[in-house]
Amino acid sequence: MDKKWWHDKIAYQIYPKSFYDSNGDGIGDVRGIIQKLDYLKDLGVDILWLSPIYKSPFADEGYDIADYYDIDPRFGTMADVEELIAEAKKRDMYILMDLVVNHCSDEHEWFKKACADPEGKYGKFFYLRDRNPDGTLPTNWRSYFGGPCWEELPGTDKLYLHVFHKKQPDLNWENPEVRSEVYKNINWWLEKGLGGFRVDAIINIKKPETFADYPADREDGLSNVRHMLEDARGIGKFLGEMQKETFSRYDAFSVGEVFNERKEEIPNYIGENGYFSSMFDFAETVCGASEKGWYDNKPCLPDDYKRCVFEAQKRVGTMGFLSNIIENHDEPRGVSRYIPAEDLCPATKKLLATMYFLLRGIPFIFQGQELGMENRNFPSTAEFDDVSSIDEYQVALAAGLSGEEALRAVSAYSRDNARTPVQWTAGKNAGFTEGTPWLNLNENYVRINAEDNLADPDSLYHYYQKLIKLRKDPAYKDTLVYGTLTPYLPEEKNLMAYIREEGGQRILVAGNFDRNPKTVTIPSEGRLLLNNLEEAPEMCGETLRLAGYQAVVLEL
Ligand code: GLC
Ligand code: CA
Repeated sequence: MDKKWWHDKIAYQIYPKSFYDSNGDGIGDVRGIIQKLDYLKDLGVDILWLSPIYKSPFADEGYDIADYYDIDPRFGTMADVEELIAEAKKRDMYILMDLVVNHCSDEHEWFKKACADPEGKYGKFFYLRDRNPDGTLPTNWRSYFGGPCWEELPGTDKLYLHVFHKKQPDLNWENPEVRSEVYKNINWWLEKGLGGFRVDAIINIKKPETFADYPADREDGLSNVRHMLEDARGIGKFLGEMQKETFSRYDAFSVGEVFNERKEEIPNYIGENGYFSSMFDFAETVCGASEKGWYDNKPCLPDDYKRCVFEAQKRVGTMGFLSNIIENHDEPRGVSRYIPAEDLCPATKKLLATMYFLLRGIPFIFQGQELGMENRNFPSTAEFDDVSSIDEYQVALAAGLSGEEALRAVSAYSRDNARTPVQWTAGKNAGFTEGTPWLNLNENYVRINAEDNLADPDSLYHYYQKLIKLRKDPAYKDTLVYGTLTPYLPEEKNLMAYIREEGGQRILVAGNFDRNPKTVTIPSEGRLLLNNLEEAPEMCGETLRLAGYQAVVLEL
Protein backbone atom coordinates (compact mmCIF):
# COMPACT_ATOMS: atom_id res chain seq x y z
CA MET A 1 0.00 0.00 0.00
CA ASP A 2 1.34 3.43 -0.95
CA LYS A 3 2.19 5.62 2.01
CA LYS A 4 -0.03 8.67 2.34
CA TRP A 5 0.48 11.83 4.34
CA TRP A 6 -2.43 11.08 6.69
CA HIS A 7 -1.47 7.55 7.70
CA ASP A 8 0.73 8.60 10.61
CA LYS A 9 -1.44 11.55 11.68
CA ILE A 10 -3.70 11.97 14.70
CA ALA A 11 -7.10 13.58 14.16
CA TYR A 12 -9.22 15.64 16.54
CA GLN A 13 -12.88 16.49 16.14
CA ILE A 14 -14.09 19.94 17.03
CA TYR A 15 -17.79 20.59 17.57
CA PRO A 16 -17.42 24.35 17.07
CA LYS A 17 -20.58 25.45 18.83
CA SER A 18 -19.28 23.97 22.09
CA PHE A 19 -15.53 24.37 21.74
CA TYR A 20 -14.60 27.89 22.78
CA ASP A 21 -16.51 31.16 22.63
CA SER A 22 -14.29 34.13 21.81
CA ASN A 23 -16.90 36.92 21.95
CA GLY A 24 -19.21 36.15 24.85
CA ASP A 25 -22.39 35.31 22.94
CA GLY A 26 -22.46 31.83 24.46
CA ILE A 27 -21.67 30.09 21.18
CA GLY A 28 -18.28 28.65 20.29
CA ASP A 29 -16.77 30.16 17.15
CA VAL A 30 -13.94 30.04 14.63
CA ARG A 31 -11.87 32.68 16.43
CA GLY A 32 -12.22 30.53 19.53
CA ILE A 33 -10.65 27.64 17.63
CA ILE A 34 -7.80 29.86 16.45
CA GLN A 35 -7.13 30.85 20.06
CA LYS A 36 -6.86 27.21 21.08
CA LEU A 37 -4.62 26.03 18.23
CA ASP A 38 -1.54 25.99 20.44
CA TYR A 39 -3.36 23.89 23.01
CA LEU A 40 -4.17 21.37 20.27
CA LYS A 41 -0.67 21.50 18.84
CA ASP A 42 0.77 20.78 22.28
CA LEU A 43 -1.53 17.81 22.63
CA GLY A 44 0.06 16.53 19.43
CA VAL A 45 -2.89 16.29 17.05
CA ASP A 46 -2.44 17.07 13.35
CA ILE A 47 -5.80 16.98 11.62
CA LEU A 48 -8.76 19.01 12.89
CA TRP A 49 -12.23 18.04 11.70
CA LEU A 50 -14.77 20.79 12.25
CA SER A 51 -18.43 19.84 12.47
CA PRO A 52 -20.39 22.14 10.11
CA ILE A 53 -19.93 25.89 10.38
CA TYR A 54 -21.77 26.81 7.18
CA LYS A 55 -24.79 29.08 7.08
CA SER A 56 -27.61 27.12 8.65
CA PRO A 57 -30.92 27.45 10.49
CA PHE A 58 -29.49 24.88 12.99
CA ALA A 59 -32.50 22.53 12.88
CA ASP A 60 -29.92 19.74 13.21
CA GLU A 61 -27.14 21.92 14.61
CA GLY A 62 -25.56 22.89 11.31
CA TYR A 63 -26.05 19.56 9.54
CA ASP A 64 -28.76 21.43 7.64
CA ILE A 65 -26.88 23.74 5.30
CA ALA A 66 -28.46 26.80 3.72
CA ASP A 67 -25.33 27.96 1.88
CA TYR A 68 -22.32 25.78 1.16
CA TYR A 69 -20.21 28.83 0.30
CA ASP A 70 -20.83 30.87 3.42
CA ILE A 71 -20.08 30.70 7.14
CA ASP A 72 -22.84 31.11 9.65
CA PRO A 73 -22.41 34.51 11.33
CA ARG A 74 -22.72 32.82 14.72
CA PHE A 75 -19.41 31.08 13.96
CA GLY A 76 -17.66 34.02 12.32
CA THR A 77 -16.72 35.01 8.80
CA MET A 78 -15.02 33.50 5.79
CA ALA A 79 -11.98 35.63 6.65
CA ASP A 80 -11.85 33.91 10.06
CA VAL A 81 -11.88 30.51 8.36
CA GLU A 82 -9.12 31.54 5.98
CA GLU A 83 -7.10 32.71 8.96
CA LEU A 84 -7.76 29.41 10.72
CA ILE A 85 -6.50 27.46 7.72
CA ALA A 86 -3.40 29.64 7.51
CA GLU A 87 -2.70 29.46 11.26
CA ALA A 88 -3.13 25.70 11.19
CA LYS A 89 -0.73 25.43 8.27
CA LYS A 90 1.90 27.40 10.20
CA ARG A 91 1.71 24.67 12.83
CA ASP A 92 1.75 21.80 10.29
CA MET A 93 -1.89 21.11 10.99
CA TYR A 94 -4.71 20.41 8.56
CA ILE A 95 -8.33 21.51 8.62
CA LEU A 96 -11.16 19.21 7.52
CA MET A 97 -14.62 20.57 6.90
CA ASP A 98 -17.75 18.47 7.21
CA LEU A 99 -19.26 17.58 3.84
CA VAL A 100 -23.02 17.33 4.29
CA VAL A 101 -24.42 16.55 0.87
CA ASN A 102 -27.00 13.82 1.31
CA HIS A 103 -29.32 16.71 2.06
CA CYS A 104 -29.30 20.47 2.35
CA SER A 105 -31.52 22.77 4.39
CA ASP A 106 -35.07 23.61 3.38
CA GLU A 107 -33.78 27.18 3.58
CA HIS A 108 -31.23 26.58 0.80
CA GLU A 109 -32.10 28.51 -2.36
CA TRP A 110 -32.31 25.24 -4.35
CA PHE A 111 -35.17 24.11 -2.16
CA LYS A 112 -36.91 27.45 -2.25
CA LYS A 113 -36.76 27.37 -6.05
CA ALA A 114 -38.08 23.82 -6.05
CA CYS A 115 -41.08 24.95 -4.01
CA ALA A 116 -41.71 27.83 -6.42
CA ASP A 117 -41.51 25.56 -9.47
CA PRO A 118 -41.57 21.84 -8.71
CA GLU A 119 -41.52 20.94 -12.41
CA GLY A 120 -38.51 23.15 -13.11
CA LYS A 121 -34.76 22.62 -12.86
CA TYR A 122 -34.61 22.69 -9.05
CA GLY A 123 -37.55 20.33 -8.56
CA LYS A 124 -35.17 17.75 -10.00
CA PHE A 125 -32.62 18.50 -7.28
CA PHE A 126 -34.87 16.69 -4.77
CA TYR A 127 -37.02 13.60 -4.55
CA LEU A 128 -40.52 14.90 -5.19
CA ARG A 129 -43.49 12.53 -5.34
CA ASP A 130 -47.27 12.64 -5.38
CA ARG A 131 -49.38 10.99 -2.74
CA ASN A 132 -50.70 7.57 -3.64
CA PRO A 133 -54.20 7.66 -5.26
CA ASP A 134 -55.70 6.63 -1.89
CA GLY A 135 -54.05 9.61 -0.21
CA THR A 136 -51.35 7.65 1.63
CA LEU A 137 -47.66 8.55 1.58
CA PRO A 138 -45.48 7.19 -1.25
CA THR A 139 -43.67 4.84 1.17
CA ASN A 140 -43.77 3.93 4.85
CA TRP A 141 -40.13 4.77 5.61
CA ARG A 142 -39.38 6.19 9.07
CA SER A 143 -36.87 8.99 9.18
CA TYR A 144 -33.85 8.72 11.48
CA PHE A 145 -35.26 11.39 13.74
CA GLY A 146 -38.75 9.82 13.88
CA GLY A 147 -41.91 10.25 11.84
CA PRO A 148 -42.35 9.59 8.12
CA CYS A 149 -39.69 10.46 5.55
CA TRP A 150 -42.22 12.48 3.53
CA GLU A 151 -43.32 16.04 4.04
CA GLU A 152 -45.49 18.36 1.99
CA LEU A 153 -43.56 20.60 -0.36
CA PRO A 154 -44.76 24.03 0.78
CA GLY A 155 -47.16 25.72 -1.61
CA THR A 156 -47.63 22.59 -3.74
CA ASP A 157 -49.52 19.30 -3.58
CA LYS A 158 -46.28 17.33 -3.81
CA LEU A 159 -44.20 15.62 -1.15
CA TYR A 160 -40.43 15.64 -0.70
CA LEU A 161 -38.19 12.99 0.80
CA HIS A 162 -36.08 13.56 3.92
CA VAL A 163 -34.39 10.64 5.63
CA PHE A 164 -33.34 12.93 8.50
CA HIS A 165 -35.27 15.97 9.81
CA LYS A 166 -37.99 17.55 7.70
CA LYS A 167 -35.75 20.61 7.43
CA GLN A 168 -33.16 18.40 5.69
CA PRO A 169 -34.55 17.56 2.23
CA ASP A 170 -32.56 14.81 0.48
CA LEU A 171 -30.65 15.86 -2.62
CA ASN A 172 -31.24 13.75 -5.69
CA TRP A 173 -27.83 12.32 -6.56
CA GLU A 174 -29.25 10.63 -9.68
CA ASN A 175 -29.32 14.12 -11.20
CA PRO A 176 -25.88 14.89 -12.71
CA GLU A 177 -26.42 18.60 -12.08
CA VAL A 178 -26.64 17.95 -8.34
CA ARG A 179 -23.43 15.97 -8.43
CA SER A 180 -21.58 18.60 -10.37
CA GLU A 181 -22.75 21.30 -7.91
CA VAL A 182 -21.39 19.17 -5.06
CA TYR A 183 -18.03 18.59 -6.74
CA LYS A 184 -17.71 22.26 -7.60
CA ASN A 185 -18.21 23.14 -3.95
CA ILE A 186 -15.73 20.56 -2.68
CA ASN A 187 -13.05 21.82 -5.07
CA TRP A 188 -13.77 25.42 -4.17
CA TRP A 189 -12.99 24.57 -0.56
CA LEU A 190 -9.95 22.47 -1.40
CA GLU A 191 -8.61 25.43 -3.37
CA LYS A 192 -8.71 27.37 -0.11
CA GLY A 193 -6.20 24.96 1.32
CA LEU A 194 -8.30 22.51 3.30
CA GLY A 195 -6.75 19.18 4.18
CA GLY A 196 -9.94 17.41 3.22
CA PHE A 197 -13.38 16.44 4.45
CA ARG A 198 -15.31 14.25 6.80
CA VAL A 199 -18.14 12.96 4.66
CA ASP A 200 -21.50 12.98 6.42
CA ALA A 201 -24.25 10.36 6.18
CA ILE A 202 -22.95 9.38 2.76
CA ILE A 203 -24.47 5.90 2.51
CA ASN A 204 -27.87 7.56 2.19
CA ILE A 205 -27.21 9.16 -1.20
CA LYS A 206 -28.20 6.06 -3.16
CA LYS A 207 -31.85 5.07 -3.07
CA PRO A 208 -33.35 1.91 -4.60
CA GLU A 209 -34.68 2.14 -8.13
CA THR A 210 -38.23 1.47 -7.00
CA PHE A 211 -39.61 3.04 -3.87
CA ALA A 212 -41.48 0.31 -2.00
CA ASP A 213 -42.99 -0.22 1.43
CA TYR A 214 -41.28 -2.53 3.93
CA PRO A 215 -42.88 -4.45 6.78
CA ALA A 216 -43.74 -2.07 9.62
CA ASP A 217 -41.42 -2.56 12.59
CA ARG A 218 -43.08 -0.35 15.22
CA GLU A 219 -46.57 0.66 16.30
CA ASP A 220 -46.34 3.75 14.10
CA GLY A 221 -46.74 1.52 11.02
CA LEU A 222 -43.44 2.76 9.61
CA SER A 223 -40.30 0.89 8.68
CA ASN A 224 -36.69 1.72 9.50
CA VAL A 225 -35.14 3.58 6.57
CA ARG A 226 -32.27 1.09 6.75
CA HIS A 227 -34.41 -1.47 4.89
CA MET A 228 -34.67 0.67 1.80
CA LEU A 229 -30.91 1.38 1.91
CA GLU A 230 -30.22 -2.35 1.89
CA ASP A 231 -32.04 -2.52 -1.43
CA ALA A 232 -30.07 0.32 -3.00
CA ARG A 233 -27.37 -0.76 -5.42
CA GLY A 234 -24.72 1.21 -7.27
CA ILE A 235 -23.54 3.84 -4.76
CA GLY A 236 -20.01 3.18 -6.02
CA LYS A 237 -20.68 5.02 -9.24
CA PHE A 238 -21.32 8.24 -7.33
CA LEU A 239 -18.57 7.80 -4.78
CA GLY A 240 -15.96 6.84 -7.37
CA GLU A 241 -16.90 9.82 -9.47
CA MET A 242 -16.68 12.15 -6.48
CA GLN A 243 -13.24 10.82 -5.53
CA LYS A 244 -11.98 11.26 -9.07
CA GLU A 245 -13.45 14.73 -9.58
CA THR A 246 -12.41 16.13 -6.21
CA PHE A 247 -10.32 14.51 -3.45
CA SER A 248 -7.83 12.74 -5.71
CA ARG A 249 -6.97 15.96 -7.52
CA TYR A 250 -5.78 17.55 -4.29
CA ASP A 251 -4.37 14.56 -2.44
CA ALA A 252 -7.02 15.39 0.14
CA PHE A 253 -7.87 13.28 3.16
CA SER A 254 -11.46 12.07 3.24
CA VAL A 255 -13.12 10.05 5.96
CA GLY A 256 -16.54 8.62 5.32
CA GLU A 257 -19.37 8.15 7.77
CA VAL A 258 -20.10 4.70 6.41
CA PHE A 259 -22.39 2.14 8.02
CA ASN A 260 -23.37 -1.32 6.84
CA GLU A 261 -20.89 -1.62 3.99
CA ARG A 262 -20.72 -5.09 2.50
CA LYS A 263 -17.44 -6.87 3.24
CA GLU A 264 -16.58 -7.34 -0.42
CA GLU A 265 -16.95 -3.58 -0.94
CA ILE A 266 -14.33 -2.56 1.64
CA PRO A 267 -11.46 -2.35 -0.88
CA ASN A 268 -13.64 -0.09 -3.05
CA TYR A 269 -14.27 2.18 -0.09
CA ILE A 270 -10.84 2.46 1.45
CA GLY A 271 -8.42 0.34 -0.55
CA GLU A 272 -5.83 1.79 -2.92
CA ASN A 273 -7.65 4.58 -4.82
CA GLY A 274 -10.78 3.86 -2.81
CA TYR A 275 -13.66 6.30 -2.60
CA PHE A 276 -12.30 7.58 0.72
CA SER A 277 -8.95 7.72 2.50
CA SER A 278 -10.59 6.14 5.52
CA MET A 279 -13.93 5.38 7.12
CA PHE A 280 -15.06 5.28 10.72
CA ASP A 281 -15.37 2.06 12.63
CA PHE A 282 -18.81 2.20 14.23
CA ALA A 283 -18.95 -1.46 15.26
CA GLU A 284 -18.75 -0.51 18.95
CA THR A 285 -21.14 2.42 18.82
CA VAL A 286 -23.90 0.25 17.31
CA CYS A 287 -23.17 -2.58 19.74
CA GLY A 288 -26.30 -3.31 21.76
CA ALA A 289 -28.48 -0.94 19.71
CA SER A 290 -32.12 -1.96 19.64
CA GLU A 291 -34.53 -1.72 16.70
CA LYS A 292 -37.11 -0.46 19.17
CA GLY A 293 -35.27 2.65 20.29
CA TRP A 294 -32.63 3.85 22.75
CA TYR A 295 -34.71 2.84 25.75
CA ASP A 296 -34.22 -0.80 24.77
CA ASN A 297 -30.45 -0.65 24.05
CA LYS A 298 -28.20 -3.16 25.78
CA PRO A 299 -24.92 -2.05 27.37
CA CYS A 300 -21.66 -2.77 25.57
CA LEU A 301 -19.56 -4.66 28.13
CA PRO A 302 -15.77 -5.03 27.88
CA ASP A 303 -15.95 -8.39 26.12
CA ASP A 304 -18.56 -7.04 23.67
CA TYR A 305 -16.37 -4.04 23.05
CA LYS A 306 -13.36 -6.24 22.36
CA ARG A 307 -15.32 -8.54 20.04
CA CYS A 308 -16.65 -5.58 18.00
CA VAL A 309 -13.23 -3.98 17.68
CA PHE A 310 -11.53 -7.20 16.65
CA GLU A 311 -14.23 -8.08 14.13
CA ALA A 312 -13.87 -4.67 12.50
CA GLN A 313 -10.08 -4.94 12.48
CA LYS A 314 -10.28 -8.38 10.91
CA ARG A 315 -12.77 -7.32 8.24
CA VAL A 316 -10.45 -4.55 7.08
CA GLY A 317 -7.09 -6.14 7.83
CA THR A 318 -4.42 -4.36 5.83
CA MET A 319 -6.81 -3.48 3.00
CA GLY A 320 -7.05 0.08 4.20
CA PHE A 321 -7.26 2.37 7.21
CA LEU A 322 -10.20 2.58 9.56
CA SER A 323 -10.68 5.69 11.67
CA ASN A 324 -10.98 4.73 15.31
CA ILE A 325 -13.08 6.58 17.89
CA ILE A 326 -14.63 6.06 21.29
CA GLU A 327 -17.14 8.88 20.79
CA ASN A 328 -18.20 11.72 18.52
CA HIS A 329 -20.88 14.41 18.44
CA ASP A 330 -23.57 11.77 17.80
CA GLU A 331 -22.70 9.50 20.68
CA PRO A 332 -22.56 9.56 24.45
CA ARG A 333 -19.12 9.97 26.00
CA GLY A 334 -17.04 6.83 25.43
CA VAL A 335 -15.83 6.61 29.01
CA SER A 336 -19.41 6.65 30.31
CA ARG A 337 -20.46 4.05 27.79
CA TYR A 338 -17.69 1.46 28.07
CA ILE A 339 -16.65 1.81 31.72
CA PRO A 340 -18.99 0.92 34.61
CA ALA A 341 -20.08 4.14 36.35
CA GLU A 342 -18.70 3.08 39.73
CA ASP A 343 -15.23 2.57 38.24
CA LEU A 344 -15.00 5.77 36.22
CA CYS A 345 -11.66 7.38 37.11
CA PRO A 346 -8.47 8.56 35.38
CA ALA A 347 -6.97 5.04 35.37
CA THR A 348 -9.92 3.41 33.61
CA LYS A 349 -10.13 6.28 31.15
CA LYS A 350 -6.46 5.75 30.33
CA LEU A 351 -7.08 2.04 29.87
CA LEU A 352 -9.80 2.69 27.30
CA ALA A 353 -7.64 5.32 25.61
CA THR A 354 -4.74 2.87 25.26
CA MET A 355 -6.88 0.11 23.83
CA TYR A 356 -8.46 2.07 20.99
CA PHE A 357 -5.61 4.45 20.25
CA LEU A 358 -3.07 1.86 19.17
CA LEU A 359 -5.40 -0.12 16.92
CA ARG A 360 -4.60 -0.21 13.24
CA GLY A 361 -6.13 2.91 11.73
CA ILE A 362 -6.23 6.62 12.32
CA PRO A 363 -7.03 7.64 15.89
CA PHE A 364 -9.61 10.40 16.31
CA ILE A 365 -10.06 12.26 19.59
CA PHE A 366 -13.33 14.08 20.18
CA GLN A 367 -13.10 17.43 21.98
CA GLY A 368 -12.98 17.00 25.74
CA GLN A 369 -12.19 13.30 25.48
CA GLU A 370 -8.57 14.13 26.29
CA LEU A 371 -9.82 15.79 29.49
CA GLY A 372 -11.94 12.85 30.56
CA MET A 373 -15.28 14.53 29.96
CA GLU A 374 -18.23 12.32 30.92
CA ASN A 375 -21.94 12.03 30.23
CA ARG A 376 -24.12 14.58 31.91
CA ASN A 377 -26.93 13.77 34.34
CA PHE A 378 -29.73 15.61 32.54
CA PRO A 379 -32.15 16.82 35.21
CA SER A 380 -35.09 17.13 32.80
CA THR A 381 -36.00 16.84 29.12
CA ALA A 382 -36.05 20.61 28.94
CA GLU A 383 -32.25 20.37 28.94
CA PHE A 384 -32.18 18.45 25.66
CA ASP A 385 -31.41 20.38 22.50
CA ASP A 386 -30.81 17.45 20.15
CA VAL A 387 -33.72 16.51 17.86
CA SER A 388 -33.09 12.78 18.16
CA SER A 389 -33.08 12.88 21.97
CA ILE A 390 -36.45 14.62 21.95
CA ASP A 391 -37.84 11.98 19.57
CA GLU A 392 -36.37 9.05 21.50
CA TYR A 393 -37.95 10.34 24.71
CA GLN A 394 -41.37 10.16 23.03
CA VAL A 395 -40.55 6.68 21.70
CA ALA A 396 -39.71 5.55 25.24
CA LEU A 397 -42.92 7.01 26.67
CA ALA A 398 -44.97 5.36 23.92
CA ALA A 399 -43.36 2.03 24.86
CA GLY A 400 -44.75 2.46 28.39
CA LEU A 401 -41.78 3.85 30.33
CA SER A 402 -42.52 6.41 33.00
CA GLY A 403 -41.24 9.95 32.48
CA GLU A 404 -38.44 9.32 34.95
CA GLU A 405 -37.41 6.03 33.28
CA ALA A 406 -37.58 7.55 29.81
CA LEU A 407 -35.40 10.48 30.91
CA ARG A 408 -32.81 8.12 32.35
CA ALA A 409 -32.82 5.89 29.26
CA VAL A 410 -32.46 8.78 26.84
CA SER A 411 -29.85 10.55 28.95
CA ALA A 412 -27.53 7.57 28.59
CA TYR A 413 -27.50 7.87 24.78
CA SER A 414 -28.28 11.52 24.15
CA ARG A 415 -26.11 13.24 21.59
CA ASP A 416 -26.12 16.22 23.94
CA ASN A 417 -23.71 14.35 26.22
CA ALA A 418 -20.97 15.05 23.71
CA ARG A 419 -22.22 18.53 22.94
CA THR A 420 -22.01 20.18 26.36
CA PRO A 421 -19.35 22.92 26.25
CA VAL A 422 -15.69 22.01 26.64
CA GLN A 423 -14.55 22.38 30.23
CA TRP A 424 -11.52 24.65 30.14
CA THR A 425 -11.35 25.79 33.78
CA ALA A 426 -13.02 25.32 37.16
CA GLY A 427 -14.20 28.93 36.98
CA LYS A 428 -17.32 30.63 35.65
CA ASN A 429 -18.97 28.63 32.84
CA ALA A 430 -15.91 26.39 32.85
CA GLY A 431 -14.08 29.15 31.00
CA PHE A 432 -16.07 28.32 27.85
CA THR A 433 -17.83 31.66 27.60
CA GLU A 434 -18.20 35.01 29.31
CA GLY A 435 -21.89 34.93 28.41
CA THR A 436 -24.60 32.33 28.81
CA PRO A 437 -23.65 28.99 27.25
CA TRP A 438 -26.06 27.89 24.49
CA LEU A 439 -26.27 24.45 26.12
CA ASN A 440 -25.84 23.89 29.83
CA LEU A 441 -22.49 22.66 31.05
CA ASN A 442 -21.85 19.36 32.71
CA GLU A 443 -21.76 20.28 36.40
CA ASN A 444 -18.60 18.22 36.93
CA TYR A 445 -16.40 20.91 35.32
CA VAL A 446 -15.21 21.87 38.77
CA ARG A 447 -13.23 18.63 38.91
CA ILE A 448 -12.80 17.77 35.21
CA ASN A 449 -11.27 20.58 33.18
CA ALA A 450 -8.29 21.51 31.02
CA GLU A 451 -6.63 23.76 33.58
CA ASP A 452 -6.28 20.94 36.11
CA ASN A 453 -5.32 18.45 33.41
CA LEU A 454 -2.51 20.68 32.21
CA ALA A 455 -1.19 21.23 35.73
CA ASP A 456 -1.05 17.53 36.59
CA PRO A 457 1.70 15.50 34.87
CA ASP A 458 -0.31 12.31 35.47
CA SER A 459 -3.52 13.62 33.97
CA LEU A 460 -5.45 12.03 31.14
CA TYR A 461 -4.42 14.90 28.86
CA HIS A 462 -0.77 14.09 29.45
CA TYR A 463 -1.46 10.41 28.96
CA TYR A 464 -2.98 11.15 25.54
CA GLN A 465 0.15 13.15 24.81
CA LYS A 466 2.22 10.06 25.61
CA LEU A 467 0.08 7.86 23.38
CA ILE A 468 0.51 10.34 20.57
CA LYS A 469 4.28 10.53 21.09
CA LEU A 470 4.48 6.76 21.08
CA ARG A 471 2.55 6.43 17.82
CA LYS A 472 4.83 9.04 16.25
CA ASP A 473 8.10 7.74 17.70
CA PRO A 474 10.36 6.78 14.78
CA ALA A 475 11.36 3.64 16.70
CA TYR A 476 7.79 2.27 16.74
CA LYS A 477 5.89 4.25 14.15
CA ASP A 478 6.08 1.75 11.29
CA THR A 479 4.68 -0.97 13.50
CA LEU A 480 1.99 1.14 15.13
CA VAL A 481 0.89 2.71 11.85
CA TYR A 482 1.35 -0.02 9.27
CA GLY A 483 1.74 -3.19 11.33
CA THR A 484 -0.75 -6.02 11.30
CA LEU A 485 -3.02 -6.52 14.29
CA THR A 486 -3.52 -9.95 15.82
CA PRO A 487 -5.82 -10.42 18.81
CA TYR A 488 -4.02 -12.05 21.72
CA LEU A 489 -5.90 -14.42 24.05
CA PRO A 490 -9.23 -13.12 22.70
CA GLU A 491 -11.19 -15.67 24.73
CA GLU A 492 -9.79 -14.46 28.07
CA LYS A 493 -12.63 -12.71 29.89
CA ASN A 494 -12.15 -9.00 30.63
CA LEU A 495 -8.77 -8.98 28.97
CA MET A 496 -8.28 -7.08 25.75
CA ALA A 497 -4.92 -7.64 24.11
CA TYR A 498 -3.45 -7.48 20.65
CA ILE A 499 -0.10 -7.64 18.93
CA ARG A 500 0.97 -5.13 16.31
CA GLU A 501 3.71 -6.47 14.09
CA GLU A 502 5.80 -5.14 11.24
CA GLY A 503 9.23 -6.00 9.85
CA GLY A 504 10.18 -8.21 12.79
CA GLN A 505 9.07 -5.77 15.49
CA ARG A 506 6.24 -6.87 17.77
CA ILE A 507 4.32 -4.65 20.17
CA LEU A 508 1.83 -6.06 22.64
CA VAL A 509 -1.01 -3.86 23.89
CA ALA A 510 -2.81 -5.41 26.84
CA GLY A 511 -5.54 -4.11 29.09
CA ASN A 512 -7.20 -5.65 32.11
CA PHE A 513 -10.87 -4.65 32.16
CA ASP A 514 -11.31 -6.19 35.56
CA ARG A 515 -11.05 -4.64 39.01
CA ASN A 516 -9.00 -7.61 40.11
CA PRO A 517 -5.46 -8.41 39.03
CA LYS A 518 -4.98 -10.78 36.14
CA THR A 519 -2.01 -12.95 35.28
CA VAL A 520 -1.39 -13.89 31.65
CA THR A 521 1.33 -15.65 29.72
CA ILE A 522 2.85 -13.51 27.02
CA PRO A 523 4.63 -14.75 23.88
CA SER A 524 8.05 -13.57 25.06
CA GLU A 525 9.64 -11.32 27.60
CA GLY A 526 8.69 -7.69 27.03
CA ARG A 527 10.09 -4.21 27.49
CA LEU A 528 7.63 -1.71 28.96
CA LEU A 529 6.83 1.23 26.69
CA LEU A 530 3.74 2.59 28.41
CA ASN A 531 1.67 1.94 31.50
CA ASN A 532 -1.51 3.65 32.71
CA LEU A 533 -0.89 3.17 36.45
CA GLU A 534 1.76 4.44 38.81
CA GLU A 535 2.73 0.92 39.75
CA ALA A 536 4.69 -1.11 37.19
CA PRO A 537 3.18 -4.40 36.05
CA GLU A 538 4.82 -7.50 37.48
CA MET A 539 6.81 -9.16 34.74
CA CYS A 540 8.79 -12.33 35.07
CA GLY A 541 9.90 -13.93 31.84
CA GLU A 542 6.76 -14.82 29.96
CA THR A 543 4.44 -14.07 32.85
CA LEU A 544 2.72 -10.74 33.07
CA ARG A 545 0.62 -9.74 36.05
CA LEU A 546 -1.66 -6.80 35.45
CA ALA A 547 -3.22 -4.93 38.35
CA GLY A 548 -6.94 -4.17 38.21
CA TYR A 549 -7.68 -1.89 35.23
CA GLN A 550 -4.05 -1.80 34.20
CA ALA A 551 -3.04 -1.26 30.56
CA VAL A 552 0.46 -1.76 29.24
CA VAL A 553 2.30 -1.50 25.97
CA LEU A 554 5.27 -3.84 25.65
CA GLU A 555 7.84 -4.33 22.97
CA LEU A 556 8.25 -8.09 22.74
C1 GLC B 1 -24.61 12.49 10.51
C2 GLC B 1 -24.15 13.51 11.52
C3 GLC B 1 -25.28 13.83 12.42
C4 GLC B 1 -26.40 14.41 11.62
C5 GLC B 1 -26.77 13.51 10.44
C6 GLC B 1 -27.57 14.26 9.42
O1 GLC B 1 -24.96 11.29 11.08
O2 GLC B 1 -23.02 13.04 12.18
O3 GLC B 1 -24.91 14.71 13.44
O4 GLC B 1 -27.52 14.59 12.42
O5 GLC B 1 -25.65 13.01 9.75
O6 GLC B 1 -26.75 15.17 8.73
CA1 CA C 1 -19.20 33.27 19.99
